[in-house]
Amino acid sequence: MLQIGKVRCDELLKACGSPLYVYDETQIEKKVEDYQTYFKSENFDTEIVYASKAFTCVALLEKLNAYGCSIDVVSGGELSIAKKANFPSENIYFHGNNKLNDEIIMALEYGVKTIIMDNMYEVDQVIHLAEKLKKEVHVLIRVNPKVEAHTHEFIMTATSDSKFGISIDQKDDIKEMIAKVNDSEYVVFDGFHSHIGSQIFEEHAFVAAIDKMIAFIKEMGEPTSVLNIGGGFGVRYTDEDTPIPTKDLCIKLIEAINQSLHTHDVQLDKVCMEPGRSIVGEAGYTLYEVGFTKKTQNKEFIFIDGGMADNIRPALYDAKYACDIANKMDQAKDYTYEVAGKCCESGDIIIHDAKLPKVETNDILVVYTTGAYGYSMASNYNCLNKPAVVFVKDGKARQVVRRETYEDQLALNEEKELQL
Ligand code: LLP
Repeated sequence: MLQIGKVRCDELLKACGSPLYVYDETQIEKKVEDYQTYFKSENFDTEIVYASKAFTCVALLEKLNAYGCSIDVVSGGELSIAKKANFPSENIYFHGNNKLNDEIIMALEYGVKTIIMDNMYEVDQVIHLAEKLKKEVHVLIRVNPKVEAHTHEFIMTATSDSKFGISIDQKDDIKEMIAKVNDSEYVVFDGFHSHIGSQIFEEHAFVAAIDKMIAFIKEMGEPTSVLNIGGGFGVRYTDEDTPIPTKDLCIKLIEAINQSLHTHDVQLDKVCMEPGRSIVGEAGYTLYEVGFTKKTQNKEFIFIDGGMADNIRPALYDAKYACDIANKMDQAKDYTYEVAGKCCESGDIIIHDAKLPKVETNDILVVYTTGAYGYSMASNYNCLNKPAVVFVKDGKARQVVRRETYEDQLALNEEKELQL
């Protein structure tokens, strides 16, 4: 029987039901330690800012805070989880291309240290609200460095017509944004941010973006103390993926930053990075119970008790995953199956042509590397309840998010007359 964090998968399902998201805490800790240890330089401070959109819950944020990580949030919802975890406001960065007034107010009231400005209109809005509430806030301006890295087009962010940030060519607009911030009493300009996309393996794309950003800082000639180089570091979903080990990646990025600072004669107080997927992705596993199996003319299906509602990535990005039968780890994988979810959608296939041992009803299917953008992109399609999340470590397991219930969903069916 497969164990995760020295806990048997069948015992986890017995205790918490199926499907189930399982995180191996040791794997998360190892990643964080690697980032904290190797993304370091004598020439500037560094900060690891976890992109909480990849997966967030109170228990994870408490752990990251204990490790001294910062986080980024992109909505009032993500911020409310940070608040519930008592995450220190001075370690929160607030992102997003269309922050709502209520969200900006919520961030200012909680004392969020830094807001990342996506566009000119937002600058006016943040200045206005910070002055109204008399709250000081620091800002970074998100610059699109126009470095195209090869990844799925839905998760590329630095193409010329990306909806994110302001193009590196629009220097006059950026200067105007900074001038407005400098004129304001409550808003402080710290520097720039760039992010080139997600699930990227090409180290040279990160290096190119870093160099473009540092050359840009020199050219702008504005006092700049902070550069945030974003996240996007790829992880292994299947054997086809070959991510750079975290330690090597950090060392290479630090080298590239130092080299570029030297070349362009720029000094920075701090460089931040924003990994999401690479901290939680490989630490996450989803367990499902197998229901019926079915043979069609050319395929053999196994049906699982979850699917696109708990993992939209195969349907949305054609994402590939690896899997096993947790209770048949020692058997030869002589069979080929379509692993299909239970949603009413032909595209609800989690894995095509999965090589597995002979699968039977009640077997436990484990899908690997579901820790990022699985739970956080889960939906209630077909009114399925969102699964519970458990953390496992050294033979112990704890539920950190409970399973949704029908009552939770029904509670939203509230009728009232509207006072217009
Ligand atoms: N920083 C910014 C500004 C971002 O937009 C993102 C991701 C990150 C950091 C973290 O990127 P990561 O290290 O996790 O690659 N739903 C897609 C991924 C969307 C990524 C959105 N932004 C997926 O499931 O592949």
